[in-house]
Amino acid sequence: MLSKNIEKALNNQIKIEAESSQIYLAMACWAEVKGLEGVAGFMFDQSNEERDHMLKLIKFVNERGGHAQISELAAPNVTFSSFKEMFEKLFEHEVFVSNSINDLVHISLQEKDYATHNFLQWYVSEQIEEEAMARTILDKINLIGDDKGGLYLFDRDIQQITVSTAAANNPQ
Ligand code: FEO
Repeated sequence: MLSKNIEKALNNQIKIEAESSQIYLAMACWAEVKGLEGVAGFMFDQSNEERDHMLKLIKFVNERGGHAQISELAAPNVTFSSFKEMFEKLFEHEVFVSNSINDLVHISLQEKDYATHNFLQWYVSEQIEEEAMARTILDKINLIGDDKGGLYLFDRDIQQITVSTAAANNPQ
């Protein structure tokens, strides 16, 4: 059974994951209208992943005797000055999400809720992966600079970057 405090904190995280999904959906749309098909595909995938993160929390809250709250969301940014700025925003947002997960872990320990603490470990690992991936992408963007040919290749290869980063983080 969830304490009221934990339930409130988990519901707050549900909202954050829902907003993350919207933030990346808006990025996907911006990239798509700019003709960056690869980047758009990457962002659509990220948006779906965030929705999955949200759903996983919703199921957990409801199964543990709480009531998952579906709430109003903040409107995301819909335009960016450059695709570099867009990925910087993605990285900053993931750091924000990681801090929020850390706060949740802290609360679960304070409340001696070891089931929630255990459940949250998946999110802790996921955030390490997502931050690493965002950092890898930013490194590539900094290498490209203003080179149009580089941007073309980046847009073509971005799906591969995510696959190889995931593989590096999860060696078989
Ligand atoms: Fe669900 Fe990207 O954090």
